[in-house]
Amino acid sequence: DWTMAEFRATKIAEIREQVGDGKVICGLSGGVDSAVAAVLIHEAIGDQLTCVFVDHGLMRMNEAEQVVTLFRDHYNIPLVHVDAEELFLSGLAGQTDPEKKRKFIGGAFIDLFEAEAKKIGGADFLAQGTLYPDVIESVSFTGGPSVTIKSHHNVGGLPERMNMKLVEPLRELFKDEVRELGRELGLPEIFVGRHPFPGPGLAIRIPGEVTKERCDILRKADAIYLDEIRKAGLYDAIWQAFAVLLPVRTVGVMGDHRTYDSVCALRAVTSTDGMTADVYPFDAGFLTQCATRIVNEVKGINRVTYDYTSKPPGTIEWE
Ligand code: XMP
Repeated sequence: DWTMAEFRATKIAEIREQVGDGKVICGLSGGVDSAVAAVLIHEAIGDQLTCVFVDHGLMRMNEAEQVVTLFRDHYNIPLVHVDAEELFLSGLAGQTDPEKKRKFIGGAFIDLFEAEAKKIGGADFLAQGTLYPDVIESVSFTGGPSVTIKSHHNVGGLPERMNMKLVEPLRELFKDEVRELGRELGLPEIFVGRHPFPGPGLAIRIPGEVTKERCDILRKADAIYLDEIRKAGLYDAIWQAFAVLLPVRTVGVMGDHRTYDSVCALRAVTSTDGMTADVYPFDAGFLTQCATRIVNEVKGINRVTYDYTSKPPGTIEWE
């Protein structure tokens, strides 16, 4: 029967004990887990921690700015912001295979991260926001460990390559507990309550080739969808909601002219750990409102569909 305040104090003592006077590097993804891990570790060891945010240009609307602002202004925690949009987009050019996209992004991320670690003279520890379900999922996932459904993007492989030990203070926690710890540490609600976001970002929500133009189109549609969800008071009832930009064009009519533009799919699921998920049952009127706004406000999209697939057999992300 422990409280989050006690958990915080215990973990801080453990981190100090483990790290000693070593240097720790922590990659921030923009998500809740890595942010909570970083803030907790910073409280324990201060400037022995270096946070690195690799901005791959595949973030949602305004997300990169929010991460930088949270760390630099709200917490005054030094943050290395690596602007790598061009590198990622050029590497993704012409690439349409989901696993190749994931592997390129994971590999490029590790290279950039390693380069930043070298700049600070190397690090003894790598901090990760690994949660309890991540520990479970890497051991057994639908079909057992021999079946790779998706190559998850994280910093796996880095510890050996860089000869580092792991600091994973959230390993015993579930998502709702991490959020509670985040609140205990004073993280703003916009961060704490945020839906999970995959490491490869929008690249896996754009089946087919990823381009800057398609990322921009998707960001706009996604922002409208999330805006409607927040306005309807549904954001916290949903595990994840996002738009997907399909590599399909269909014919439409706007005013008195023909359009020939992309289709956007909307997805929303409820879940407790991402391992299984149910479709969120919006009212038809709500979805119509989202579709109308997206087609009217986003140039490049002229049709909107809703994804009614639960997990399993679907996965949450489309790639
Ligand atoms: P799937 O699509 O496998 O996703 O049903 C389950 C949960 O994991 C997230 N996801 C990822 N998270 N790196 C991450 O950190 C990844 O490569 C990745 N791929 C999927 C997904 O958003 C969902 O919450």
